Amino acid sequence: MKGMFVKAVVFKGPFEVAVEQVDDPRIEQPTDAVIRITTANICGSDLHPYEGRVDFDAGMVLGHENMGIVEEIGPGVDRIHVGDRVSVPFNLACGSCRNCNDGWTSACLRANPSGQPGAGFGYPMMGPYWGGQAELLRVPWADFNLLELPAGNQWENDFTLLSDAFPTGYHGTELAKVTPGKTVAIFGAGPVGLLAAMSANVRGASQTFVVDHQLDRLALAERIGATAINAADGDPVEMIMDATDGFGVDCGVEAVGYQAHDATGQEHPALVLDNLVAVVRATGSIGVVGVYEPEDPGASTDSAKEGRYAFDFGTAFTKGLSLGTGQCPVKKYNRYLRDLIIREQAKPSIIVSHEVGLEQAPEAYARFDKRENGYTKVLLHPNAA
Ligand SMILES: NC(=O)c1ccc[n+]([C@@H]2O[C@H](COP(=O)([O-])OP(=O)(O)OC[C@H]3O[C@@H](n4cnc5c(N)ncnc54)[C@H](O)[C@@H]3O)[C@@H](O)[C@H]2O)c1
Ligand SMILES: [Zn+2]
Ligand SMILES: [Zn+2]
Repeated sequence: MKGMFVKAVVFKGPFEVAVEQVDDPRIEQPTDAVIRITTANICGSDLHPYEGRVDFDAGMVLGHENMGIVEEIGPGVDRIHVGDRVSVPFNLACGSCRNCNDGWTSACLRANPSGQPGAGFGYPMMGPYWGGQAELLRVPWADFNLLELPAGNQWENDFTLLSDAFPTGYHGTELAKVTPGKTVAIFGAGPVGLLAAMSANVRGASQTFVVDHQLDRLALAERIGATAINAADGDPVEMIMDATDGFGVDCGVEAVGYQAHDATGQEHPALVLDNLVAVVRATGSIGVVGVYEPEDPGASTDSAKEGRYAFDFGTAFTKGLSLGTGQCPVKKYNRYLRDLIIREQAKPSIIVSHEVGLEQAPEAYARFDKRENGYTKVLLHPNAA
């Protein structure tokens, strides 16, 4: 395969991605591996550059939710072998800096040449690393980053959610301090919110509410065992208050992000944060895994353009709420979530709605971006025959 081109999903500009031939990813450092991608997912986060709501260089290859088979390893790789089936966490981390040593691979101090903590594949501000919506992907620090999976192709659509959405949903419930018997309100029934609901089940929550205004996604929340709250029917805070005898919930998860909007589509960047502060009981905890940006020129308010989100912090303080935020450190959770899948204790593939080849990626981006009915989670299979 040396010196060949591979097919990849290339970012051209807002609302434009193309499947093109790019230089094949190769071993550049002794600790690199090259993965032949079996499945790469499109993520809600990919829509931020797609919609031009965060700057991204034209020519970059997209894709941070990757899995596949190890094709080649550098001479310094000795844990992972050619032929291994692996999941690639969306965070790319060195494994030896202070934050990596603390388990915060989401804030690796060495992987991002810009100096900013945290690196990743095919994503704005996460370094120069190409993504895996392509036939091949180069993975630096392969021994540290790659998660081994059982050989074969069983659980492919479950395992593919280990690179991001499942651990991120789980991280939301970790930050929200979900423990047995607690009640939980999750805002957002996209892949992250739905898998946060699944994670709340795993952690023994007694009742989980999932709020959205997309009926197809709310139906999936019900299938996962949550109570669906349709924000198009009224104020979700009131609905959850009524359902909890006015008490509210112990834990809240933000799985929407800075493009939070009402059922008519009008954006209100602080809406979900305000809702969570209102619905979580005094001294409860909120996990914010939905993304908020330091700058968003396309924001609907002047303050949000500068990354200042004016939410009800006074009430949050008065209620003594805890707030956790940030990117998920995937490696903290992925091996345990893998084993839940293998032991049939969790089936995250319930959220997968579409599986397509690489050539269909531009159409899939456009339809997923419109949140077309039934477009919940799209998997790309770049090497499918
Ligand atoms: N922290 C991390 O490590 C991490 C990782 C992956 C994704 N994310 C972020 O998590 C968020 C969710 O990702 P996703 O893939 O599920 O995205 P998604 O866009 O598919 O889902 C978001 C859902 O929120 C709903 N929504 C919008 N406004 C709402 C409101 N006011 N109340 C309730 N629901 C509302 C939308 O209808 C949609 O179904 C995004 O911001 C994404 O960037 C964060
Ligand atoms: Zn993602
Ligand atoms: Zn590091």
